[in-house]
Amino acid sequence: MEFFLDTAEIDEVREIAAWGILDGVTTNPSLIKKSGRDFKQVVREIAEICDGPISAEVTALDTDGMVEQGRALKDELPPNVIIKVPCTPEGLAATKILSDQGIGVNVTLIFNASQAVMAAKAGAMYVSPFIGRIDDTGADGMDLIAEIMTIWDYYPELDTKVLAASIRNPMHILQAMQMGAHTATMPTKIFRQLVKHPLTDKGIQQFMDDWSEVEAAGKA
Ligand code: E4P
Repeated sequence: MEFFLDTAEIDEVREIAAWGILDGVTTNPSLIKKSGRDFKQVVREIAEICDGPISAEVTALDTDGMVEQGRALKDELPPNVIIKVPCTPEGLAATKILSDQGIGVNVTLIFNASQAVMAAKAGAMYVSPFIGRIDDTGADGMDLIAEIMTIWDYYPELDTKVLAASIRNPMHILQAMQMGAHTATMPTKIFRQLVKHPLTDKGIQQFMDDWSEVEAAGKA
């Protein structure tokens, strides 16, 4: 499974990339706003740190505008940048045009399986169902991942990857993996939670204490 970082903070990309397990990065207009930095500069810097797919989102809502923005981003930014478009009729048309030109597209803001299927048919490289935002409505976002993966199982010719997004806790990641989702994008906090266990910390402390005694006895 691919692990993507959902951020526009360069320090966070550096931190997780240093672990050796970062496969890509997703950004969105809200994350760019939070960073307070220039959109293209941020994406450029991220793409230089991580050589996996880096999603940069268009803000036009019409097909021509999305295609124009997508092509401009591809021209100006490093080759590993892919274009994120919303799941609308206009977004599907833009996905078809961009993907036919060999440009990777991540179709975002997916909230049901039919949207995922439509985006895949349009040629998306990734479809991004938003788990946490579904949970926020009182439904279970993981049900959507299960539903999409069931459909994908029936159609092995689908080469679109299912990217679990809007991740709020480590269980979302483990459940998405158990369901066969290809990719997940998560905030830095979740990466840290996934690797942390109190018994690991306790075990290290015990080993360090015992080793100090070995050294003190001149037996190291
Ligand atoms: C995915 O690409 C999105 O940027 C992200 O996962 C949205 O998450 P949120 O619902 O926490 O804003």
